[in-house]
Amino acid sequence: MKNIALSSVTALLLLSSFGCSEKGGDTKEETPKVSEPLMEKAKSAGLLPIPEKFVEKVGNELNDAKIELGKKLYFEPRISKSNLISCNTCHNLATGGVDGVSAAIGHGWTANPHHLNSPTVYNAVFADRQFWDGRDPDLEKQAQGPILAGPEMASTVEIVVDTIKSMPEYLIDFKNAFGSSEVTYEKATMAIGAFERTLVTPSRFDTYIQGDSTAMTGVEKEGLEIFIDKGCTSCHNGVALGGSMQLFPAIGEFKYANLGDFKGNAGGMVKTPTLRNILETAPYFHNGATFDISETVKIMGETQLGIKLSDDEVSKIVAFFGALEGEKPEVTYPVLPASTSTTPKPDVN
Ligand code: HEC
Ligand code: HEC
Repeated sequence: MKNIALSSVTALLLLSSFGCSEKGGDTKEETPKVSEPLMEKAKSAGLLPIPEKFVEKVGNELNDAKIELGKKLYFEPRISKSNLISCNTCHNLATGGVDGVSAAIGHGWTANPHHLNSPTVYNAVFADRQFWDGRDPDLEKQAQGPILAGPEMASTVEIVVDTIKSMPEYLIDFKNAFGSSEVTYEKATMAIGAFERTLVTPSRFDTYIQGDSTAMTGVEKEGLEIFIDKGCTSCHNGVALGGSMQLFPAIGEFKYANLGDFKGNAGGMVKTPTLRNILETAPYFHNGATFDISETVKIMGETQLGIKLSDDEVSKIVAFFGALEGEKPEVTYPVLPASTSTTPKPDVN
């Protein structure tokens, strides 16, 4: 059977668009390009496909060595005070780039003091700002925060630099990535940012708006149309279907507002989360208040648009979210260099 050779995304697409009914004739080799008005409508509403090239930061140009080093440091628990916590602890690449708990838990089993939920790192590169209050402009700057934060990795710049420097393999990695084996905290976080820039997940939705009408099912398309018509795209737009700072709650009351004390930035604005892979990243909201995606969508209608969505509309929007499930980049778990006599010892207190 020909289908086996196709990528999993295409295979999924064939399954979902043709259901279980037996189908005569050959599977087409060519991707059918049948334009539908909804494709244009989605683009006019500001929805964009994932670009073909990784998005780079000026001053932190991507190269394979840097991305590989960034991956090692992303999985490196020894840069945390306890030697137990890495970026991947809370942004687990096997589980949608999140930890699945309402409030993140870090050093010494400490929950985030503001009851903040870990956002996904997948597609975070497409956001205008980083963090729920948008305080950092990009991934490189963002990565400097959690390593030193008490409730997260509770480390110090000295521990990070000394740990990396204590293992000769890392010095070679730095030389290959940056042209010099000098280890600085900033370079370590630049490498992590470079790696995160590769964590993008193209989905059937992307294939669809690029002109393949068979990439989404009928009900998913209906959901997309409702998503646009109701006004969700006024905030959930761009490549991320999110990523900009918006008022929250904008119109109606948020019934879980008192879980934690986060109220947005100084102007009450909150970073709009990406909706890519949203079915994998429960719980939802800045405080992880809900696990149920349908309830979450209903709340959005009330707080952001002042409307009551019907169960049918909600279920179609949720069906559309299925088309946003992306293909994850293959990340081979790195083998990290062995500690040496000068590697700082773990401190779990
Ligand atoms: C203890 C759990 C924890 C660890 C460890 C952790 N993070 Fe986070 N991360 C969070 C939480 C919680 C937030 C949201 C905090 C806020 O907005 O103030 C966050 C926010 C982020 C964001 C912003 C995403 C967005 O959509 O705004 C990125 C990117 C990120 N972390 C990457 C990293 C990297 C890289 C590391 C390792 C250097 C790391 N995190 C370590 C919990 C963690
Ligand atoms: C006025 C801007 C705005 C509009 C309109 C809007 N949203 Fe949101 N959405 C946000 C913001 C901001 C958040 C994050 C709120 C928070 O957690 O504090 C959010 C959160 C979400 C979440 C949870 C994401 C997560 O990872 O926690 C979902 C799902 C969602 N929106 C779907 C929708 C849908 C569906 C619609 C249309 C019915 C919609 N939104 C309309 C701004 C908006």
